[in-house]
Amino acid sequence: MAKITILGAGAMGSGICTPLINAGWEVRLWGTWLDDHLLDACEAGKPHPRTNVPLAKGVKLYRSADLNKALDGSDVVVMSVASGGVPKVTEMALEGISKAKALWLTSKGFCPDENGKIQLLPEAIRTIAKQKGVTIPPIVAIAGPVKANECAEGKPTATIFGCKDLDVSRKYAREARTEVYCIEATDDETGVEICAPMKNVYAIALGIADGLEEGTGFPHHNLKAATFNQAVKEMSLLGQALGAKPETAYGLAGVGDLEVTGLSGRNKVYGVRIGRGETAKDALAEMERLEQTVEGVPAAGLATTFVEQSAPQIKDQLPLLRAVHEILAGSSLSVVKILSEAVLPKMP
Ligand SMILES: NC(=O)c1ccc[n+]([C@@H]2O[C@H](COP(=O)([O-])OP(=O)(O)OC[C@H]3O[C@@H](n4cnc5c(N)ncnc54)[C@H](O)[C@@H]3O)[C@@H](O)[C@H]2O)c1
Repeated sequence: MAKITILGAGAMGSGICTPLINAGWEVRLWGTWLDDHLLDACEAGKPHPRTNVPLAKGVKLYRSADLNKALDGSDVVVMSVASGGVPKVTEMALEGISKAKALWLTSKGFCPDENGKIQLLPEAIRTIAKQKGVTIPPIVAIAGPVKANECAEGKPTATIFGCKDLDVSRKYAREARTEVYCIEATDDETGVEICAPMKNVYAIALGIADGLEEGTGFPHHNLKAATFNQAVKEMSLLGQALGAKPETAYGLAGVGDLEVTGLSGRNKVYGVRIGRGETAKDALAEMERLEQTVEGVPAAGLATTFVEQSAPQIKDQLPLLRAVHEILAGSSLSVVKILSEAVLPKMP
């Protein structure tokens, strides 16, 4: 039985256990020093507090101090912590990662290095390994429309594995597949990794369009659809500027994940607040008070800097990214005006 160690016992780390157990893996779930209460609940047989679904039967749990035990002899390691924790957890687990045959990555986000250069997560992980003189196995970026709770519950789910070596993404797409967790394979790691954090930024804009209905009493579905279209275009353009395939953004990693993120979740809820009339600052303060981290907020700033650093030639072709950035910065213009200018077609 192949062994797999998941790093991070949050919603996604625990959710992905279900298909892996059902696909026949020996699954070990390691909780960080922030996860003791989550493991306590699982050990007590209660539902996982983040997904409200009981952990799949047979998963072996490890506390933060037992990282080496959790990694011992693992064929695959899965990085599943929030993006801010990825550098530290990578360093801590580097030896175990280097002995594995692959590192899978469900974490999503941008990662600034010590010089302020914004990197995608696989690049950040490879840089850390290189600095430590450690060779790591191929990285498989995992994305697509996957809500952790539905994955945990064994509901039908489509996802995509992206590895520079297509044989590797195909191998694991076959080995992790179940009847309900179905996996596309691609060699477009960059495309997959661009869509993952960008869709959080764009989901804020979709939420704003929804919130306008609450604020004005009139639906703004046309504006929302135009916003969706522009978001997908921008994810594709940015990906292409960095060597990704144009179509990746039009598939599960882009359109698929944007759809699911725009339906529910913290980025959307935050956008709704703004759309119905709260200022970006007040809405964020309220989300923080409710302990709801909005990943799209830091991602909007990081994405803007990332574009300036790594794809300045297409800076002017990403008006929706600029619009979200402007709204979050507290522009005095109405959100309808800002979004409309960004997403409605220009005079041909
Ligand atoms: N929830 C989903 O549906 C979903 C789906 C796909 C991908 N993801 C991605 O998976 C990652 C984890 O998301 P989640 O939903 O499991 O979040 P979560 O808040 O439930 O869990 C976060 C995990 O990261 C760890 N963590 C947080 N801050 C840390 C830090 N500073 N240092 C070290 N570890 C830290 C926590 O201990 C926990 O294990 C995110 O990047 C998210 O975008 C989530």
